[in-house]
Amino acid sequence: MNSSHRRPFTNPRARHGFLGRSCSIVSVGAYVPDKILTNADLERMVDTSDEWIITRTGIRERHVAAPNETTSDLAAKAALRALENGGVRPDEVDLIIVATVTPDMPFPSTACLVQQKIGATRAAAFDIEAACSGFIYALEIGQQFIQSRTYDTVLVVGAEKLTTLVDWSDRNTCVLFGDGAGAAVLQSRADSHGLLATYMGADGSKGSVLCVPAGGSAIPASAASVQQRQHFIRMDGKETFKNAVQSMHAAATEVLRQCGLDIKQIKCVIPHQANRRIIDAVGERLGATPDQVYVNLDRFGNTSAASVAIALAEAVERGRIQRGDLILLMVFGAGFTWAAAVVEW
Ligand code: UT7
Repeated sequence: MNSSHRRPFTNPRARHGFLGRSCSIVSVGAYVPDKILTNADLERMVDTSDEWIITRTGIRERHVAAPNETTSDLAAKAALRALENGGVRPDEVDLIIVATVTPDMPFPSTACLVQQKIGATRAAAFDIEAACSGFIYALEIGQQFIQSRTYDTVLVVGAEKLTTLVDWSDRNTCVLFGDGAGAAVLQSRADSHGLLATYMGADGSKGSVLCVPAGGSAIPASAASVQQRQHFIRMDGKETFKNAVQSMHAAATEVLRQCGLDIKQIKCVIPHQANRRIIDAVGERLGATPDQVYVNLDRFGNTSAASVAIALAEAVERGRIQRGDLILLMVFGAGFTWAAAVVEW
């Protein structure tokens, strides 16, 4: 599978007559805060049970950032680990893209705060918001800058302090989410095709199914918005569940088709970590075996834009992914948004 003259896939970019230069994920890194909130802790906070949470979601515990720990703090720690793992200095980074729905503040961007915290003095920096799909959206954007030769080194980070948006009195949502960050360094490598195919989708008609209603221009913060708990996550779980399964399956099928790949050729599938039942349903529809699919939501819960980034970093660190392996990433989130990518590692 490593041999460059007998690759088992089609490079869709070549088929479309545009090859540019390739874009590889040269290194990854992740960081989660120390404090762990278990299902037993939640049993003491709302009317729930460890048994309900495990059977309905697969989550056992999640990490929660300290009150003075911000999204940019989590992002900076993950970014420094990714840079160190790749042997890349912060001052070599040309561009930082942070995907998040929990920026430190409306502006400046979290990416600018990360730039300062890691000392990436040469880097341009901006945030993107595609909710739980943000990391793959950001990978695709970063890839464009590398392929077009605009930049040589792009740092992509998915980071969330989601627990700031959690209504700790709502058992429907408070058991689901956690905090953390994952980062990837993108460069072109001569020995790898890197990101082979990406697909991004969105359906704005479903915006209200999963949202935080207030805090923006529609409902600015006010005493009433706080009293009505409009600054917290609201979700129709069943509608989100159904769309997550359908959309991740469709996106994954599309990127596999573009590469002429069968799921059996994929070494590791890394899905968005929202619900074990969603992961199992998509894996089954794709024909993936359980040992192909990487799952860590039992320990982290749903960390939105950080979810796939943390799982990828962990899978690499644990040796589940080796150079030359083909991997499949797939995500789904608010918007609705969804995306998938095939990567030659
Ligand atoms: O990252 C973005 C993507 N997000 C997702 O993909 C999340 C998608 N949705 C889900 O994961 C699931 O829909 C949930 C885990 C959120 C809910 O699971 P469900 O099987 O759809 O449960 P439900 O909402 O239909 O609730 C079933 C019952 C209800 O009780 P009644 O009305 O049947 O008496 C809920 O009130 O479970 C109850 N319930 C709980 N019980 C104990 C809901 N949350 C809890 C809880 N503990 N934490």
